[in-house]
Amino acid sequence: MQLNTRKQQNILKNHEITKTLVSEEEVQNTVQRLGAEITAHYGQLERELMVIGLLRGSFIFMADLVRQIKIPLVVDFMTLSSYGDGTISSGDVKVVMDLDSSIEDRDVLLVEDIVDTGRTFSKVIRMMRNRNPRSLKVCTFLNKPAARIADIKIDFCGVDIPNEFAVGYGLDYAQGYRHLPYVGVLQLGSDK
Ligand code: IMP
Ligand code: MG
Repeated sequence: MQLNTRKQQNILKNHEITKTLVSEEEVQNTVQRLGAEITAHYGQLERELMVIGLLRGSFIFMADLVRQIKIPLVVDFMTLSSYGDGTISSGDVKVVMDLDSSIEDRDVLLVEDIVDTGRTFSKVIRMMRNRNPRSLKVCTFLNKPAARIADIKIDFCGVDIPNEFAVGYGLDYAQGYRHLPYVGVLQLGSDK
C-alpha cells in the first residue's frame, strides 16, 4: 500500500497516543517470559526450530523473541496483504511474499504481532498445515480476545489487550508508529 506524502504527514500530525497499553518494561518482561516458555516447551529437537514471522508487524517482536529462545533455531518471514492504511480487518488474506524455505517435516513456530479477529492467523495456520510440518505452534505478542471471530488456539500468548486500536512495538497505523518501544492506543483524528 503506497501512501502519498501529504496523507502520511497528516496521519502523523492529526492523531495522538492517548494511553499506554503495554509499557516498555512490560514489553521486555513479556518477551522474556515467552522465550522461556518456548525454550522449555521444545527442549531438545532433532533439527533447529523454524521461527516464522509475519511481516511487517512482527519484525521487532521477532528480533527480541529469538534472542530469548535458548535452543538452536532458524528464522524465515512471510508477508501477507493487510489492512492497508485502515483499522478494520477485511479478512481477505493474500500471500505477498512467501517463505524462502520448505517447512515440510520441520518444527515450526509462527509469530504474529497481534491476533485481533483471528482471521489472518487461522488462514495462515491452514496454509501452513497443508505444507506438512512436523509440528506447528503459534505465538503472538498481543491478543484481543473481545474481537475474536475465528476460533484459534494460541500456544504462546503475550498480553491480552482491550478492543482498541494499538500501535507501537511493530504495530502500525498507516505505516507510522511501528518504532515506539511501548504499545499505546491511537486516538484517531482526521486523516484529511
Ligand atoms: P486479524 O486478522 O483481525 O486477527 O488481524 C490481523 C492483523 O491486523 C494483525 O497482524 C495486524 O497487522 C493487524 N491489526 C489488528 N489489530 C490491530 C491493532 O490494534 N493495531 C495495529 N494493527 C492491528
Ligand atoms: Mg500483522
